Order: sequence, then C-alpha cells, then structure tokens
Amino acid sequence: MANLAVQVAGVSFKNPIIPASGVFGYGREYEQLFPLSKLGGIATKGTTGTPRPGNPAPRIAETPSGMLNSVGLQNPGIDAFIERELPNLLTKDTVILANIAGSSVEECVMVAEKLDDTDVHMIELNISCPNVKQGGAAFGTHCDSAEAITAAVRKATKKPLVVKLSPNVTNIAEIAKAVESAGADAVSLINTVLGMRINIETGRPILRNNVGGMSGPAVFPLAVRMVWQTAQAISIPVIGMGGVSSGADAIEMMMAGANAVQVGAAIFTDAYAPIRILEEMEAWLDAHHIAHVTDIIGGVTPW
Ligand code: FUM
Repeated sequence: MANLAVQVAGVSFKNPIIPASGVFGYGREYEQLFPLSKLGGIATKGTTGTPRPGNPAPRIAETPSGMLNSVGLQNPGIDAFIERELPNLLTKDTVILANIAGSSVEECVMVAEKLDDTDVHMIELNISCPNVKQGGAAFGTHCDSAEAITAAVRKATKKPLVVKLSPNVTNIAEIAKAVESAGADAVSLINTVLGMRINIETGRPILRNNVGGMSGPAVFPLAVRMVWQTAQAISIPVIGMGGVSSGADAIEMMMAGANAVQVGAAIFTDAYAPIRILEEMEAWLDAHHIAHVTDIIGGVTPW
C-alpha cells in the first residue's frame, strides 16, 4: 500500500485529505459516520472574535455542477470554540487547523492570540471570505492588505500559519508572494468564486446577500490552474482546494503542486467523500506503483 503521509509547514499529516472549513462544522455530525482519525486533518468553520449569526436566508443556491453560499461566517465566537469544540477535536488523532476570520486586523490578531495558548496544531487565516462587508476578501484581494494582516497575525502566534487565498483577484500568485514575505508558513487556495443567481419570476437575486461564493466541481479547473501558478511562485507549501470530488481530482491537485488537499462542496452530496477520495487515491497510487504520495507533488510536466 502506498504511503500517504505528507508534511505541511513542519506538521505531519497521516494523509493529504482535509475537510475544508465551513463544510464540516466541528466534526460532531461526521464522527457518527466514520472515525475522524482517518482524516489527514480537519479545517474548522471560520471563527471570529465574537459570535456571529451569519447572513439572512436564503444563503444557499444551486448552480450547474456546484453551489453558491453566502453564510456570512456564522460561528459561536472564539471563546466558545476553545471551550466547547476544540477539546473534543483534539482527541481525534488528526491535525486540527483552526480557521480564523475577523472584521479588522485587530480582531484576527486577538483570535490568533487566544489560539496560541491552546494545543491547536495550525491556524488557517481566512482573508478571502466573499460574503462579509468588512474583513474577509477585503483583506485578501490586494497585496498590501494581505501582507499587513499576515504580518500582524504572524506576530500574534507561533503556531504554523496557513493563509487562505481568494480566487477573486487578477494574479493569485502575487498575493501568495505577499503573504509568504509577511511570514505565512503555507497558503491554502482557492476559496469560493464570487457569483450570483437571479430568480427570473421575481426579478430578485436568489441569495438574500445578492451575491455569494461558488464552489463545487465547476470551479475545479480554475482551482488547479491557480494552485499550479501559485506553487511555482512561492517556496512555502500549498494546500489545494476547489471542486475536488474524487481521488483522481486530488491526485491532479497534487500534480499541480499541492502538498495536501481540502475537500469542500463534495461533502454536501456525499458525507463520506473524504474517505472515498482517500481510498480512490490509494488505489490509483497502488495501480501506478507509486510508493509515496509525495512523489506526485508538482509532478505535472507542462508542454
Ligand atoms: O460566508 C461564509 O461563511 C464563507 C466563508 C468563506 O468562504 O470563507
């Protein structure tokens, strides 16, 4: 059997598959379906300084081969996360990436400082949420602001710091270089792609927020392209995500340059998707006599 272990920013993962932030909550529903220890890691729902109710409904819309969401960072706040959710997650024998967000640099710094005093394994700084007016993608769509928030959070924590990037930019590799220069230990990409649906009978947008973030198989080629471009531009590791639905997709993402792979929307149509993807990857590696999954990272040979 192929060895599936990977390293990201000095952290050892037993395999490269990580449910993405926002699709897996804190794992409580899924631990009734399969042992969370089978996962390489878990990225938790974005946590802010204080509880947030999220955006008004409707906040989900279907799209061809994907979905739009405008959840608006609903979460119970960092204190509740640390008291109620993190202790359970830390018993699961898997890497916990605490995804954090905020409306200001100060809020993100405060959340990172609180996590620094815990045993969480990594922090994933979300500078790419498209569904909030302040913070989110406002930080992540310009090199200067991406660099400034990364530098501030870097100072606030010694935990390995992953910065989650927005695809809603002209050149994602430039943003990746900016956060690398500010001290990020890794980047994760892509967050969702800004989109919109309209109910033609009412003339109203389907989402109450008018616009939302698109994910699912339809965005996979965009994600592969951006992971490939980013991996070539920086020296720190890349965690790839965006429409990964099969073991073949995960292999493709790693060939593009990803050291690990997050699985998002696929979990909404198949709760076992992370486990299935893992098994499919393993079968592919064995069929191709590849001893270690790390052998495929960045393995694409461009024409
Ligand atoms: O709206 C949301 O909670 C989504 C967050 C994100 O895409 O980062």
